Order: sequence, then C-alpha cells, then structure tokens
Amino acid sequence: MPVYAIWNNKGGVGKSYLTFQIASEFARQNPKKKVLVVDLCPQANSSSMLLGGMFDGEEKLNEIHSVHPRLTITGYFEDRIRSPYAPPRSGAQYVTQVVSLNNQMPNNLYLVVGDEQLEIQASRVSNATNPGPPDAWRIVHLWVRDLIQDVLDSWDNADAAVFIDCNPSFSIYTELALTAAERLLIPFSADGASKRAVKAVLSLIYGVTRNPGEQQSEFHLNSQRYRMALPKIYMYIGNRLTQMNNSSASAFKTVVEEIGEEIWKVWQATPQHFCIHPSGASTPGNKRAFRKMFQYEVNDANSASVVSSALGIPISKLTAGAKNVAGKNIVVNQSQLDKQVPNISALVKSLE
Ligand SMILES: Nc1ncnc2c1ncn2[C@@H]1O[C@H](COP(=O)(O)OP(=O)(O)O)[C@@H](O)[C@H]1O
Ligand SMILES: [Mg+2]
Repeated sequence: MPVYAIWNNKGGVGKSYLTFQIASEFARQNPKKKVLVVDLCPQANSSSMLLGGMFDGEEKLNEIHSVHPRLTITGYFEDRIRSPYAPPRSGAQYVTQVVSLNNQMPNNLYLVVGDEQLEIQASRVSNATNPGPPDAWRIVHLWVRDLIQDVLDSWDNADAAVFIDCNPSFSIYTELALTAAERLLIPFSADGASKRAVKAVLSLIYGVTRNPGEQQSEFHLNSQRYRMALPKIYMYIGNRLTQMNNSSASAFKTVVEEIGEEIWKVWQATPQHFCIHPSGASTPGNKRAFRKMFQYEVNDANSASVVSSALGIPISKLTAGAKNVAGKNIVVNQSQLDKQVPNISALVKSLE
C-alpha cells in the first residue's frame, strides 16, 4: 500500500493541482482500490478542487469547517493533542467519501479534508514533541501515519493508495506528512526559484549539505536518531512545461536539466534514497536510464486546467466545448484534451 507525499519547498509548483489530478485519475484507473487523499496544507486547495472546485468545493469546505467537532485534519490533530502518546485510533472518523459531495468523482476516492486551522494548531503540535516521554518527537511524528493506519484498518486493509498534499513550508505538519510517506513526488516549475527549492528538499529531508560545516535539519537528524524511514524519491516532475514536440520547450529544458543534475548527484551518492520502479525494474546504470525512471514532464494544460480545477472535474472527465466558470465562457479544445489526458494518465500508470 504505497503512501505518496507531494512536496516541494516552494508554492505554486502544482502540488495541489497534481494531487487532485493524480488521485482522481488513480482512483479511475484502479476501481478496485481505495484511494485516500490527506490534505496537510492549511490552504486546503486540493480539498477544494476534489469537493467541487472554486465555488461548489469552497462552499462544501465552509460547511465542513462550520461543524463542531471539525471532520478535518484539524479535528484529528485535536484528538492527538489531547492524547499525544497513546493513539486514540479515531482517524477513520475524519474521512469524507468525495463522491458524496462531488458527483464528478469516482466512488473509491476518500479525503481527510484540509483546514486553515492547521496553522494555528501547529505550535501546539510542536509543543507535544517536547517535553514528554524520551521519544516524544518520534511518537508525534507518527501521528499522520497512525491516521492512515486507522483508515486502512476501517477498510479491513483493502488494497489502497494514499496521496498527501503538503504545504510548501517545512513546518511541523509537513514533517508529519513526510514521516508518514514512503514515496516522494517532487513537482517543480522550470525557474531558478524552483531549482533552489529542490535543493532545499534534498537538504531538509536527506541532509544533503553543500558547504563544509553546514547544519543539517533537525528533522533529518532526529529521523536518523530514532531510525525512522525517510520517504524515497519516486519522481521529480517538471510541471506546467510549455509543449514542444512532446518535451519541454528549450527555454525550460535547461532548468529541467539542471534540476535533474542536482537529483542525479544525490542518486550517485545515496541511491538508497530512491524508489526503483516499477517493481522488478533493474537499477538505472546511467544518467539516461535514471532520467527515464525518475523524471516526468507535465505540460501546461492551459484552459483545460482552469476549468478542471474551477469546477472540480478531473481532466479525464472533462469534455470539449465552452464551459461556464464564474459567468465567463472558457473554451476547452478537444486538441488540448488529446494532449493533457494521456499526459496525466501515463504519469499515474507509472505509480504503483
Ligand atoms: N499542469 C498545469 N497546467 C496548468 N495549470 C497548472 C498546472 N499545474 C498547476 N497549475 C496551476 O498553477 C497554480 C498553482 O498550482 P498549485 O497546485 O496551487 O501549486 P502549489 O500547491 O504547489 O502551491 C494553480 O492555479 C494551478 O491550477
Ligand atoms: Mg498547494
């Protein structure tokens, strides 16, 4: 049962958009599996898209947030703050079946709804790591993993996949997400800031330092100290790339290559941080094979992405034609869909 975190230490690279598209497409391609999205971002963008988009989804979110106790990630964390070191096993109560609120979604898709209160809660979550029992840090960092286990138990351990949308900041709840995850998807856009952010990911999680004497993150050091597994890099995804002969346009290509180079260096030094896939595949022996396994490119979906996320319709279900978004007509072309749908579908097929 794979648990994927979608994280980069930068906003606006497509974490939430890709969580929305990937999770709904994964559920469509695997109707016998259950798919859980855990929204660990206070902006709750992936929740909003999954629940119906900019208007309907936002309204559903407001309704969920107005009920006490909140059936969101914050509600679960409240249980944990009350009982930090003895798992209350209450995680399954905080799951919403997405189709009950958005009929565009497959039946087998479930969500732990995101919540802006996460930001306010964060300091209380941190406080639980210290003081406390000697391994308080470890126990608190397992809260999200416990949550996922509670949900799986309630599903009688049915075949499942989990996707965690993260906040860009390396906050306590991002740390909890990364501890729960077995695999990491790193979306990035093709710009200099993205390159720095990818370097930050490599340093914050895996302790990659660039200069002698640089400090490693407490997260990395504590993960080692408590022998906790780190998520393995499954893929780095160049997102919103302008199309040109099915690969990134030359302006973007250089940045994609530079970011690939950074990740390749980490592969050469510490291949154990990567997840070889699909299962049974042989270890890449050169840079080309490495890129083929770990690098993916997602095109800019233009108006198809705007309509898809504004209306909460997965791209594979979107039809061509004029769509009404906030009283404006936005046209989705069939030619656009012919490119975007296989692009996301192939990405999801390589997640196992
Ligand atoms: N492949 C794509 N094609 C077109 N628009 C995209 C694509 N990926 C993301 N976007 C848009 O870019 C913006 C930022 O994406 P978002 O997922 O919110 O980023 P993050 O979660 O990393 O902050 C959103 O408006 C989103 O709809
Ligand atoms: Mg986001």
